[in-house]
Amino acid sequence: MIEPHGGTLVNRMATPKQEADLRAKLSSMPALALNARQASDLAMIGHGAFSPLSGFMNRDDYASVVKDMRLANGLPWSIPITLSVSRDSARTLRDGALASLVDPSGQAVGVLNVQDKYEYDKLNEARLVYRTTEEKHPGVAYVLGQHELLVGGDVTVFHKEVRDLYSTYVQKPEQSRKAFDEKGWQTVVGFQTRNPIHRAHEYIQKCALEMVDGLFIHPLVGETQASDIPADVRMRCYEALMDGYYPKNRVILGVLPAFMRYAGPREAIFHALVRKNYGCTHFIVGRDHAGVGNYYGTYDAQHIFREFRPGELGIQPLFFENAFFCRQCGNMATAKTCSHAEEFQVSLSGTQVRAMLSQGQMPPPEFTRPEVAAVLMESQGR
Ligand code: ADX
Repeated sequence: MIEPHGGTLVNRMATPKQEADLRAKLSSMPALALNARQASDLAMIGHGAFSPLSGFMNRDDYASVVKDMRLANGLPWSIPITLSVSRDSARTLRDGALASLVDPSGQAVGVLNVQDKYEYDKLNEARLVYRTTEEKHPGVAYVLGQHELLVGGDVTVFHKEVRDLYSTYVQKPEQSRKAFDEKGWQTVVGFQTRNPIHRAHEYIQKCALEMVDGLFIHPLVGETQASDIPADVRMRCYEALMDGYYPKNRVILGVLPAFMRYAGPREAIFHALVRKNYGCTHFIVGRDHAGVGNYYGTYDAQHIFREFRPGELGIQPLFFENAFFCRQCGNMATAKTCSHAEEFQVSLSGTQVRAMLSQGQMPPPEFTRPEVAAVLMESQGR
């Protein structure tokens, strides 16, 4: 089994005794209100999906990640995982003391051991991480909207019994690692997605699967853009595709309860490292991975992998060109495998698919499997 990033799967979940002791002291601690993304980050740190992070970043890690895509100890890491606080809140925090972390529903979800409070440059983060300072970029808008200071420190996370749509899926790295092990898979390719699976996704997954033992379909189910198809509908699409078109013993469907950042290239590195923590040995990066609008070049998210020495990330990226159905070939292809004119290509943007669905039109079978299209149609109430 592949080692987690940094060598150890972090576990910052409180033991029952720790949790009882901490809960007894909560009322004497200053409280920090987390937004939904910070609460999601906390959960991801808790169960080790963000290994080696054991908390929200301190100033050295933050500065080094923003500038060099590495933690202060040199280990690759491309996205800041931070907790911003207002100056007023910061005044209530003492170094070395504990603060309770409260989620948007008002529940205490863990505690922070305050180790650092620091100023940061939002525009610098936007420029280096998102490659733009435009507020129209959703990731940049989030950074610009944060509080003025960052607070860093290790966290201890409380157990939360959530019974939701995702409870039956593999959610945590220890679960996927166990599942891969039980299947006897030595090599596993991870697939990140925030969209219903269409045929181009299926094609690149299956090309990858020809080279490895197993496929981990790992849709991100934290918040995406409002215009994206809701995660519950997407899960039904993945199920429909797996039922109809994949060998059962070669694929596992999980969920990644993290939020999209839309940082394109930087996020591709982050997505790969997180999947390494889930036990994947390989990771698919296609065209415009984790992109938004026209902020990134089609293959920037592949080129960024060259900035790391071979083997340094510890997970092998598998790159794919833009895939489409070619009517002349009668199958899926890319420019590497098909020389027919563009007019024979069937490929649709997410916006086009949404427009078709809203007009009651079924996306064509060359683009989406009929079973998946049926789920999408049904979700539109048709
Ligand atoms: S993403 O934000 O999660 O990257 P999406 O769900 O559309 O968006 O993509 C999932 C993965 O499939 C990414 O690696 C992306 O690059 C790849 N991909 C999506 N569509 C295509 C396509 N037509 N050809 C090649 N790769 C694609």
